[in-house]
Amino acid sequence: MKQMDYQPLAGQVALVTGASSGIGMGVAKALALAGASVGVNHPNMPDSANQVVEEIRAAGGTAMALSADVGNEDQVRSMFAQLIESYGTIDILVANAGLQRDAALVDMTLAEWQFVLNVNLTGQFLCAREATREFLRRGVVPGRSVAAGKIICMSSVHEKIPWAGHCNYAASKGGVMLMMKSLAQELAPHHIRVNSIGPGAIKTPINRMAWETPEAETELLKLIPYNRVGVPADIARAAVWLASDDSDYVTGITLFVDGGMTLYPGFATGG
Ligand code: BGC
Repeated sequence: MKQMDYQPLAGQVALVTGASSGIGMGVAKALALAGASVGVNHPNMPDSANQVVEEIRAAGGTAMALSADVGNEDQVRSMFAQLIESYGTIDILVANAGLQRDAALVDMTLAEWQFVLNVNLTGQFLCAREATREFLRRGVVPGRSVAAGKIICMSSVHEKIPWAGHCNYAASKGGVMLMMKSLAQELAPHHIRVNSIGPGAIKTPINRMAWETPEAETELLKLIPYNRVGVPADIARAAVWLASDDSDYVTGITLFVDGGMTLYPGFATGG
């Protein structure tokens, strides 16, 4: 990791949830390289989170690890209190924490349904609410950012593409889509921008089985017109842009970063 010459987030404070692995880890590092001080949230995985923090610091950046289950209101509130006490405020929330507990409908337990909805959807609500309270308290600070705050929700191509065997996950991401748009509508007059990133298949632990063998990867590539599986850096670059003033005037969108997965690839030859 190396500090960038262009630091569009210099002087700003970001929180990335679920930043101890996968996409969140990549986003946390990229925001730090872009100049933000970063809260690296983790769900009780201090070793991995501390490693991310160490890497950021070694590259000259600023970061701290913050433990919290994003689906737990008290833990979310105390995480924001710790971040704000250390760094003074918050400018950017990347509500990224998410997980899968896959099962066919007839086998899915209520616990599996509720767990996924609680982390993926309620977690984003709780974090967006706390971040917005601070954005509204502080308002726009000239020289910092032209916006009072930026929220980036980590959604998925599955806010749009139905996914058999994953109804809890797809429902959570469909929920994120309309939560994000509703918040964007509600908060735009306060100069708070709310957007989503919709990743396609990105090589992370969440979908290891879909890419780790050559056979699996070949199958997966049939769903990706651009013909490569994504990496966290693909998402991280989009997050830096959505967090920066370079994307001022962009609010209420889902930016799909998916190599064309949402382009109905089956229709390239069928239909
Ligand atoms: C899921 C991955 C999946 C990808 C594309 C993501 O939201 O978490 O498991 O590979 O969508 O289907």
